[in-house]
Amino acid sequence: MIRLDKYLAHLKYGTRKEVKKIIRSGAVRVNGEVIRNDDYKIDETTDEVIYDGFVLDYQEYYYLMMNKPDGYVSSNKDELDPSILNLVFEPYAFDLQCVGRLDVDTKGLLILTNDGKFNHAVTAPKRHVEKEYVMELEKPLSENDIQQLYAGVSIDDDLSKALSIKVIDEASYAMVIDEGKYHQVKRMMHAVNNEVLALKRIRIGALYLDENLEEGEYRALTKTEVEVLGG
Ligand code: URA
Repeated sequence: MIRLDKYLAHLKYGTRKEVKKIIRSGAVRVNGEVIRNDDYKIDETTDEVIYDGFVLDYQEYYYLMMNKPDGYVSSNKDELDPSILNLVFEPYAFDLQCVGRLDVDTKGLLILTNDGKFNHAVTAPKRHVEKEYVMELEKPLSENDIQQLYAGVSIDDDLSKALSIKVIDEASYAMVIDEGKYHQVKRMMHAVNNEVLALKRIRIGALYLDENLEEGEYRALTKTEVEVLGG
């Protein structure tokens, strides 16, 4: 159950003060009846709320998958570069947080949500959720570099290990890690005297980047995708 004014404010029909005015004006119907009390409680899962002739579709939490382009920060504020949220054309866009940041120049799979518990479940270090990156390097990795990356290279006084490294072509590889330290992939490559020229995340846990998404496009995660990742 949720108060009618809170329900409308969550859907971005205005501030709490503005939606109270809307309700008092008699513009909102619940199950066919005009409701003028802003503290009227509704069951957001079953009650039909109509405002301005539209049946409202309430969702408490939003989960989006984006194919992040280069040049945007994974933050909900603009920094030196614009926030990725400028590409989300939804009323709730600026309520979202990134589930694990990508660098400004990293592309690929980025999940956005307003569900803090889900965000924590995916990013908590002790859950060791796998992340897979495609990296284009300055030069090929030697057999010795690959052995070192599997054994672990020192980052933040700790050993960071690759769980899998697959050759894609001469100097590009798909690497799986299960940590999310700052600039982790770039620093792992520095540790073996190499340089990342381009980086793209293609998987988080069991979730692969949807190949139908062009750079900058997004779609909602399905219920199953949310359950598999956050469970
Ligand atoms: N590792 C990096 O170095 N950068 C990213 O954006 C993600 C992982």
